[in-house]
Amino acid sequence: MDSNADPNLEQAIEAAALELRAGGVVAFPTETVYGLGADARNPRAVARVFEIKGRPRFDPLIVHVGSAAAARALAAEWQRTAEQLAERFWPGPLTLVVKKREAIPDIVTAGLGNVGLRVPDHPIALRLIERAEMPIAAPSANPFGRISPTTAQHVRDSFEAKVPIIVDGGPCRTGVESTVISLVAEPTLLRPGGVPVEDIEAVIGRVVRRESTSRPGGEALAAPGMLESHYAPRTPLRLANQLRAGSIPLGRVGYIGLRAPEAADRFAAIEVLSQDGDLREAATNLFSALRRLDALGLEAILAGDIPAHGLGLAIRDRLERAAAKG
Ligand code: TXA
Ligand code: MG
Repeated sequence: MDSNADPNLEQAIEAAALELRAGGVVAFPTETVYGLGADARNPRAVARVFEIKGRPRFDPLIVHVGSAAAARALAAEWQRTAEQLAERFWPGPLTLVVKKREAIPDIVTAGLGNVGLRVPDHPIALRLIERAEMPIAAPSANPFGRISPTTAQHVRDSFEAKVPIIVDGGPCRTGVESTVISLVAEPTLLRPGGVPVEDIEAVIGRVVRRESTSRPGGEALAAPGMLESHYAPRTPLRLANQLRAGSIPLGRVGYIGLRAPEAADRFAAIEVLSQDGDLREAATNLFSALRRLDALGLEAILAGDIPAHGLGLAIRDRLERAAAKG
């Protein structure tokens, strides 16, 4: 998509850039999900993002920049691994956590000495960063703990009244958030996402994978967004691989899975994430499908098992958190 080709879109981006420069908050598309952005250098603007999203202050925001050079300028340390990963995967759905420079206010990083940086692979996001001439701090544009938005309508549904400027870039291509890798110590996977961890390991070697999600109240959270409950629909969600064989919740139940389930007629609604069993396509469809099921007023949603490789790791992660009770 060439944003220059559409004068209305160019105008919307211009308005969003002005709003950001005035210390406001805007929603914009990235290749992963829509973001709720503010000037990363402006603590008051960033505070508004936390407020609008209802996000606890201990959960740091990703800073979006236009190039690896711009990322490097915000980092106090830029390891060889950072250079290699930036070279290979940026622009793209990868966030690198590195030591931060003073220029990044504490509110962005929740007081941590490290900052998450990423160059989004979306023409509108890149144009917005360029026009606003600033690094943009942005979490996913959903109320805290809820399902992430992959269309502008999803954002309007939550924030129409609070966020006057929502730039519409159509549906997000990747559909799950960026992979978050910390390079502060040993390379560590903090959140599986749009770049498969296997692809990252092919570039920098072994990446430490955390066994399970951390919980609030325990040790200081390395990635506080890794809260156990997240991405939650209002309808209770159960994982098929955690149920006793054959036991399906009672009542009107929906199903979400890579392919169609056995005994399909037992379900009130079925969301097949990819007819061909393609994990990338499944990731793209995940959040919209969850939202559609959630809108039906079902008793429960059953999620089928998803292969634990490639984009499947990110899908499993989101479904596990959606199933967790806060
Ligand atoms: O794809 C994405 O990453 C989207 C788009 C908008 O870029 N953003 C996104 O942001 O998913 P959010 O805030 O919903 O999730 C950011 C994740 C959280 O798990 C957060 O804890 C982690 O990144 N994170 C951010 N900064 C961090 C830091 N300094 N140290 C450790 N984890 C960090
Ligand atoms: Mg989020």
